[in-house]
Amino acid sequence: MVKIAPSILSADFARLGEDVQAAEKAGADLIHVDVMDGHFVPNITIGPPVVKAVKKAASIPLDVHLMIENPDKYIKDFVQSGADIITVHEEASTHLHRTVQNIRECGVRAAVSLNPATPVSNLELILPYVDMVLIMSVNPGFGGQTFIPEALDKIRDLKNIITKNNYQAEIEVDGGVKVDNVADVVNAGADIVVMGSAFYNSSDYSETVKKVRERCRG
Ligand code: DX5
Ligand code: ZN
Repeated sequence: MVKIAPSILSADFARLGEDVQAAEKAGADLIHVDVMDGHFVPNITIGPPVVKAVKKAASIPLDVHLMIENPDKYIKDFVQSGADIITVHEEASTHLHRTVQNIRECGVRAAVSLNPATPVSNLELILPYVDMVLIMSVNPGFGGQTFIPEALDKIRDLKNIITKNNYQAEIEVDGGVKVDNVADVVNAGADIVVMGSAFYNSSDYSETVKKVRERCRG
């Protein structure tokens, strides 16, 4: 069954704890936390203190998506703040193998993300070492953007490589995922879908979770 990771980027930051708990109560599997530094992406969001506060409110795992330069510098801080999965961008790490090792040595799950213009082949040598791959289906930086359809081919290619080699990595897809396109994303091979605006802008979170699960059943 597909896992749903609501992104708190579209939550109400003035009542973050309540919004995290509401997502959990509605049946979310993970809480997706978007960390942006104003350098790797044009936007600035949150850092370790906010992750720590979110951790207090959540009992499901925190899926921390680092859209930052020099990710190695901050891995420990995010682990100490309560991250359960740390995703770094392939494009932001010069020594990706070392970065992935650093994450795992901290005792959390390691994931690597690809921007829309980065091919799946860039991950060939790191795939055996990661717990998850995050395929970006928008250019990272903002919530509420439109899904880039070419992401579906990337998900399919990645799924084939993982299956063929018997790797353990899960596939997460992030950006523009909505009730209306989630079945395509899951049929292409996604194990986890991030939903920001489509989740937090909906009027009934439980109903949104239910609709996603229904659409992905067949
Ligand atoms: C975009 C972030 C996403 C964002 C998704 O850079 O990584 O996680 O919150 O938002 P939606 O689902 O609205 O596209
Ligand atoms: Zn994200």
